[in-house]
Amino acid sequence: MEQQFISTLSITASELKSGSVSAKSPSNIALVKYWGKKKNQIPTNSSISYTLTNSYTETELRFSPKTSDTFEVDVYLEGELKESFAPKIITFFERITAYIPFLNQFKFEIHTHNSFPHSSGIASSASGMSAMALCLVQIENILGANLSEEDALKKASFLARLGSGSACRSVYKGLVEWGENDFVEGSSDLFGTKYPDVEIHDVFKTFHDTILLIHEGQKSVSSTVGHNLMNGHPYAERRFVEANENLKALLPILKSGDIKAFGELVEHEALTLHAMMMMSNPAFILMKPNTVAALEKLWEFRRETGNHLYFTLDAGANVHLLYPEQDAEAIEIFIKNELKQFCQNGNYIKDKVSF
Ligand code: DP6
Repeated sequence: MEQQFISTLSITASELKSGSVSAKSPSNIALVKYWGKKKNQIPTNSSISYTLTNSYTETELRFSPKTSDTFEVDVYLEGELKESFAPKIITFFERITAYIPFLNQFKFEIHTHNSFPHSSGIASSASGMSAMALCLVQIENILGANLSEEDALKKASFLARLGSGSACRSVYKGLVEWGENDFVEGSSDLFGTKYPDVEIHDVFKTFHDTILLIHEGQKSVSSTVGHNLMNGHPYAERRFVEANENLKALLPILKSGDIKAFGELVEHEALTLHAMMMMSNPAFILMKPNTVAALEKLWEFRRETGNHLYFTLDAGANVHLLYPEQDAEAIEIFIKNELKQFCQNGNYIKDKVSF
């Protein structure tokens, strides 16, 4: 299966040329979470996420021929050389060199920009690795690979996964599934699959994601450490089964437009992710007091008003508020009046799903 991604391109030194490509890729927010992986970035369960709109990474990849046979790469974030970023990219290049053989023949300069502040606690790995992978397949085509648009996206998703698992879902808009199972057609552990828009009720295409920045700054557990916590975790096997059951249960909900069932399932997933971390060894509590305070306020608001406001969480303290356009006006007043106070510096980011 992986064979299909091995490049057959062979380029002689005289065919090497300099150039530049660029790509823009949004972040995503998982509804059913990827938490746990096997070797080679193979997920232990299926996941699905909404691709966002306003939170994105834009990357320009400049390449020029070179003769030495090691990777050469400089990374610039917001115009500033970031030497600390190079090891991550080199690890990524080492993982993908079998699929992008020309990596050794070029010197690369990566210029990258995030639409969200670096300190916001929003992970840039999904959007960043996805944008990088989209750049690499473009170079492959410039060098003569002739990948169709569909194959180029599939390969970009495959490569992005090797950079960061969740990044494979950022390559497509809408809802994107990742992980092989017998209920999503075409699903694979190797790349993300766009979940068909026709299977999704219109109401779910209008969702907002407002991100409460409860705690800005670096997360206290990196995702690599976090995924490893699932190895030998006493509840891991049950969790992996439940994640797949949750995804299977979500599909008819997406079709029917049952917002309440959607919200309940998504909140359960988020709390399970955090419960897993609390039960791991060593244990992590990633919620802050203001995370809990915001969730309690949200539940109270929902009980009192009946508005469709739900939450999900990543492996951090920030709260993603999910709500449909039909209730957006009332909910956004509530956010400003009641939830903004829980955000560090009063900051939150307004985003939307992308279809
Ligand atoms: C909690 O994709 O960041 O956001 O593969 O180690 O780079 P790596 O992990 P990463 O993990 C994301 C975990 C999550 C849930 C999700 O996005 O599904």
